[in-house]
Amino acid sequence: MTVKSVKGFRDTLPGESNVWRRVEERIRGAFHTWGFQEILLPFLERTELFARSLGETTEVVEKQMYSFQDLRGESLSLRPEGTASAVRAYIENHLDQGDPIVRLFYTGPMFRYERPQKGRYRQFNQMGIELIGDPSPEADAEVLSLLDYLLAHVGVTDVTLAINNLGHAGCRPAYLDALRGYLASSREDLCADCLRKAEQNPMRVLDCKVEACIAVAAGAPSILDHVCAECRAHFEAVRALLDLNGVKYVVDPRIVRGLDYYVRTAFEATSSRLGAQNAVAAGGRYDGLVKALGGPDVPGLGFAIGMERLLALLPEDADVPSDRPSVAMVGAGSNEARQAAFLLADRLRRSGVAVGWGGGRSLKSQLRRADKAGASYVIILGDEELEKDEVVLRDMRHQSQERVPRARVGDILLRRLGLDETVKG
Ligand code: HAM
Repeated sequence: MTVKSVKGFRDTLPGESNVWRRVEERIRGAFHTWGFQEILLPFLERTELFARSLGETTEVVEKQMYSFQDLRGESLSLRPEGTASAVRAYIENHLDQGDPIVRLFYTGPMFRYERPQKGRYRQFNQMGIELIGDPSPEADAEVLSLLDYLLAHVGVTDVTLAINNLGHAGCRPAYLDALRGYLASSREDLCADCLRKAEQNPMRVLDCKVEACIAVAAGAPSILDHVCAECRAHFEAVRALLDLNGVKYVVDPRIVRGLDYYVRTAFEATSSRLGAQNAVAAGGRYDGLVKALGGPDVPGLGFAIGMERLLALLPEDADVPSDRPSVAMVGAGSNEARQAAFLLADRLRRSGVAVGWGGGRSLKSQLRRADKAGASYVIILGDEELEKDEVVLRDMRHQSQERVPRARVGDILLRRLGLDETVKG
């Protein structure tokens, strides 16, 4: 019997991984241009870190964490997201003691025990940024502009950027009271889950996907009517900068986000092409989180892109770099000739030429395989070539071939494949 993968954990096969890495490189390049530096974070953290930062009553902490006790009885969890870890690392490594504004990015797998479906996995990958120490609306606009740029830069265009103002610890309680009052009057229409949330964490009701709850949410008081003057001014300044910068967005007062640390600006980038799990990226401001986790009183904000969803949105004809070997080596004849072919393939690879190796089959089957693999050139090295210290270099595209000295074939190929500058420079 074969052993299958774990539900919700998927393989990324060579064709897709190629596109993945190319997209990742592009995003990484933009992160660097925007001044973000990579932080490599552990996959495992103390459970307490997530409970304290994401919120005890959030779905992620209540139901979705891969938590276990280690041999000493300490509760540890696979990270369900990156912000908590980044903030923990910022505090633990005193990153606030250099430049007061710290820009970090991270990439890698996150783990949530959610019901798997299209676009929703139990292990998924994020590329995220955290900008810590900047309270200004320019920081919000910059982060949103970066996300807008990134999506377009990798070729994803039909995405809606929706933003909301969640207020802050000072003004949100008044809104929560108003919302609780409203929800109390619609109790009979709410699903069982929302009945529970209506008291504890009423904003979550606005996020429920059950039809009756959506109808209730549509008539709920809007947070935008309840935020204080400062939060309102901050949001207006962010919007003005986005408008000036030509970044398209909609204001959606129902964006509440599934994690408790957000204040003021919160946002989601969604696409109708993704189905039910429609957010390709999301984020917001989390002033207060660093302090709550025992660090200095500094603001922060950021976002994370879901890589699996981003890849699903790429156009069919996305220009995928070829992962085919440029050259196929065909060794034939005596053991010495095969050894010489093996050594030449190795030398070429060390100088930067991608070489496919035919293995020990017949000349005919090796040539057929080279053709099928789409190699641009085939090198044939048999006993006759070995004796003359030559190889046969066959140009597959032009269907021509020539004999060239064995010692020169590397330079010739580097030049013809346009690799001489990259490899030597
Ligand atoms: P989040 O909204 O939980 O935010 O996740 C961000 C993105 O990760 C989502 O928009 C989605 O694309 C992807 N994602 C989440 N769960 C899954 C899943 N089960 N399967 C596939 N993709 C998924 C955060 O994680 C925050 N830490 C973002 C942030 C950074 N806020 C501030 N800084």
